[in-house]
Amino acid sequence: MKLEIKDLHVVIEGKEIVKGVNLTINEGEFHVIMGPNGSGKTTLAKVVMGYPSLKVTKGDILVDGTSIKAMSADKRAKLGLFLQFQNPVEVEGVGFVNFIRAAKESLTGTTTDIKQFMGEIRSYTEKLAITNGIIGRSLNLGFSGGEKKKAEVLQMAVLKPRLAMLDEPDSGLDIDAVKVVATNVQEIARKDKMALLVITHYSRILSYMNPQFVHIMADGRIVADGGHELVMKLEKEGYDSFVNSKK
Ligand SMILES: Nc1ncnc2c1ncn2[C@@H]1O[C@H](COP(=O)(O)OP(=O)(O)O)[C@@H](O)[C@H]1O
Ligand SMILES: [Mg+2]
Repeated sequence: MKLEIKDLHVVIEGKEIVKGVNLTINEGEFHVIMGPNGSGKTTLAKVVMGYPSLKVTKGDILVDGTSIKAMSADKRAKLGLFLQFQNPVEVEGVGFVNFIRAAKESLTGTTTDIKQFMGEIRSYTEKLAITNGIIGRSLNLGFSGGEKKKAEVLQMAVLKPRLAMLDEPDSGLDIDAVKVVATNVQEIARKDKMALLVITHYSRILSYMNPQFVHIMADGRIVADGGHELVMKLEKEGYDSFVNSKK
């Protein structure tokens, strides 16, 4: 899958939040967007995923050359887009495993071989060091911050999207969990040749990942594109140097 974001503008409650973003993610590429709080990173990911409350006022989003701007989030998921939420919601009464299974069946249009499915779930709970308890629980209900993040990585592993977008997969995680999540996300993406877009505020998680492309977002715009050297520059100089140099 090739994703192209072209001169994208998004307005929320009369205020422009995304102010002309251009970004292309080719099949299997690994991109990172970094930026200060409030720069529009989450809004950008949500609008790509098709959040109904968000309005594109200008520009376009293309998948393999075709505009998806008018497409529902459900259809976008079927195309192979996936978004891990910054703050996953708790859903009482919907079993975690049943939820993933239903999502998979809906995406693929096939029924699951339960034994194989459970085997896959177990192999990932082990890799991600998720305690077995959450398998039997309702979706995200009473999950710790770290368990919620890991549960979403598990969904990504099982659903096998073509482009996985992860919004601050490191937030709320302790240092050990950051390493587990980072290395597994990268390994899962590589194994199934998924493209990956990781959104992060802190560079910490990037010490365990090797993105090919790094973009810095500030005030609704991408203000710098490059490779890992941008992370170093950011560590040394902070976001201010990027914001001011562009104005
Ligand atoms: N539903 C909303 N209603 C009003 N303002 C919003 C809403 N969602 C986001 N914003 C505003 O948009 C800006 C960008 O937010 P966000 O995309 O979450 O940034 P980031 O993820 O980079 O921290 C912020 O100023 C935020 O307050
Ligand atoms: Mg955010």
